[in-house]
Parts: sequence; structure tokens; C-alpha cells
Amino acid sequence: MTTPVRVAVTGAAGQIGYALLFRIASGAMFGPDQPVALNLVEITPALDALKGVAMELEDCAFPLLTDIVQTDDPATGFTDVDVACLVGAKPRGPGMERADLLTGNGGIFKPQGEAIAAHAADDVRVVVVGNPANTNALIASANAAGLSPEQFTAMVRLDENRAKSQLASKAGVAVSEVRNLGVWGNHSPTMFPNFEDATIGGRPATDVLDRAWLEGEFLATVQQRGKAIIEARGASSAASAANALVDHVRNWVGGDATPDGEYVSMAVPSDGSYGVPEGLVFGFPCRTDGEGGYEIVQGIEVSDYAQGKLDTTIAELSEERDAVADLV
Ligand code: NAD
Ligand code: LMR
Repeated sequence: MTTPVRVAVTGAAGQIGYALLFRIASGAMFGPDQPVALNLVEITPALDALKGVAMELEDCAFPLLTDIVQTDDPATGFTDVDVACLVGAKPRGPGMERADLLTGNGGIFKPQGEAIAAHAADDVRVVVVGNPANTNALIASANAAGLSPEQFTAMVRLDENRAKSQLASKAGVAVSEVRNLGVWGNHSPTMFPNFEDATIGGRPATDVLDRAWLEGEFLATVQQRGKAIIEARGASSAASAANALVDHVRNWVGGDATPDGEYVSMAVPSDGSYGVPEGLVFGFPCRTDGEGGYEIVQGIEVSDYAQGKLDTTIAELSEERDAVADLV
């Protein structure tokens, strides 16, 4: 039998966890032939709720699910883990920005980075979802001695999916007709969903749709979508976030490399590409090999308009990094 891939999910008893675990166990993340083992990591007060989630996982009798670990101890939770999904953190409420979570949530990711470095597989791949995701990934990576920063990413795939859906709806085509919509920068209202490089039905999005709409309503809708969901639902997005996490990991590590000529959005440590300061965890268009490797796509034309957007999100991420200087 194929060796199971061991996946840690922090915040496993939370909203995203509840929408995520069943999809991992059913094969959506690693394919229908790959067994999975789940390490569910929570804080102590949530262990009872976690037990209920684990019971439901058992009751699904998933053929691919080989075992479940339940713990409030990060050392146990990250032992021998191949993929770590760092979801556990407070969500924002109405009237807050994601950056308002930095002080409270930032502290979670230092010990988790240390525990991952000490106990996970040497080639572990990490994706951070807990907000503010980019800077939390930076904190985890900075505290993971011996691991490479390229093993740490943050999720901007939800923003890509949101953007593609908006473009498809406006153009009156299927979402699958929208390609190469890269989300650049921070998972925050400064993100830049780069419609200038996107295509719709093989044509530049800027030829298909009105530029004023792209610069105005489209951008604002994508940048503020998380807030709109919180206002409508009374809680932050969960099922769509879990779905985007499945997409992110599947393309990066789950055997589903990006097709030729296409890319996906991942927040990864900057290597200086496009003038983004080295080390910032920044949303870039990336090509993946499905086996844990990725490269930042080079050679995309950046207009003066796009450069202005990049400068804004670079400034915000630099400020966030300065604000957590004691953790990185
Ligand atoms: P939730 O409150 O429903 O669940 C969070 C869970 O994390 C809780 O069960 C809590 O007990 C647990 N937790 C807290 N600290 C922990 C720790 N140190 N170790 C392990 N578990 C811990 O929240 P949610 O809706 O699942 O959202 C989780 C996070 O994801 C939030 O920060 C939210 O803002 C963020 N989020 C990010 C995106 C994105 O696109 N990057 C999208 C949606 C939500
Ligand atoms: C989202 O984008 O839905 C999440 O990051 C939740 C939030 O706070 O916006």
C-alpha cells in the first residue's frame, strides 16, 4: 500500500477545519489513490469539540483515511508531518481589518514554526491560512531553524478564485475560461488581482471587459470580499477558504502541477522578483510541479498602473514585518 501522506491541520475544530477535513479525507487534496493520515491540532478548551469532529470523520468510513491524531500539543501534532495547514487563529469580526489580528495571532506562529522544525518531516510543506496570513507565514518560517523559507507559503488562492468568478460572471462565460489571474501581495485590501495579465476565452481580459469596471468595481469587490462575507454571514468565510486551501495544496504538493502556460497564486517568500523586497511573503503568480516545488513566474509586464498597486501592498507588508520584528 502507498505510504500515507500525513497532514496536520491546526484549528481543526473551527469553521474552516469543519469544511476542510472531510475533503482531505475523501481524496480531494491528494487524489483518489493517496492514503492520508490526519493530525488534528487544537487548543485545550476545544479538545471536546475536536473529539466530535474526529468521531464524524470515523463515521464517514473514508477508505483513504488511515489514522487520526487529536492533540493540543504542537510537538505531537507536527510529528512526521508532510504537509502542515496552519488554520488555527482568531478570525476578525465586523469593523476589523485582518492586520488588527497581528498582535494576538502572531504569537501563535512562532512556537508552531519551532515545533514544525523540530518534529515534522524534513521536506514538510506549510501553508498558512490564519490571518494575517502572509506575515504569520513569515513568523513561522523565521522560527523554523533548518528549514528553507521556500517550504512556507500563505494562502491567496481564495482571492484568485473570487477574482476569477467575478470576471467570468461579468463576461458571461464559464469560470474555466478565465486563466492566469495572479493575486499579488498581501491577503488584505491592498492585494492586487492582476487583471492586466489575465485572459478570458483566450483573449486579454482588458479586451473583453471595460477597463473602468476592472479598475473600479472589480478590484473593490475582490479586495473587500472577506468583509462582505463577514457582514452577510456574521462569520468569516469558511467553506470557500477550505476549498481554496485544497486547491493550493493540490497544485503545490498533491500531484496536480499547473498546466503548461498557466499559473496559480501563492504567497511565497520573495526572492527579489519584480522589485519585491527579499523575504516578504508575497502573493505571486507561481508555477508548481505538484511535488512540493514552485517557481515565481518571470517576465510578466508590469504597467505603471500595476506598479502603483504593487508599491502599496509592498508598503503594507513591510509595515507588518516591522510590527512583528520581535518575532522574526
Ligand atoms: P474559527 O474561530 O472558527 O476556528 C479557529 C480555530 O482555531 C478554533 O477552533 C480555535 O480553538 C483554534 N485555535 C486558536 N488558536 C490555536 C492554536 N494556537 N493552535 C491550534 N488551534 C488554535 O475560525 P475560522 O473561521 O476557522 O478561521 C481561522 C483563521 O483563518 C482566521 O484567522 C481567519 O481570519 C482565517 N481565514 C483566512 C483566509 C485566507 O484566505 N487566508 C480565509 C478565511 C479565513
Ligand atoms: C477572507 O478573506 O474571507 C478571510 O481572510 C476572512 C477575513 O477576515 O476577511
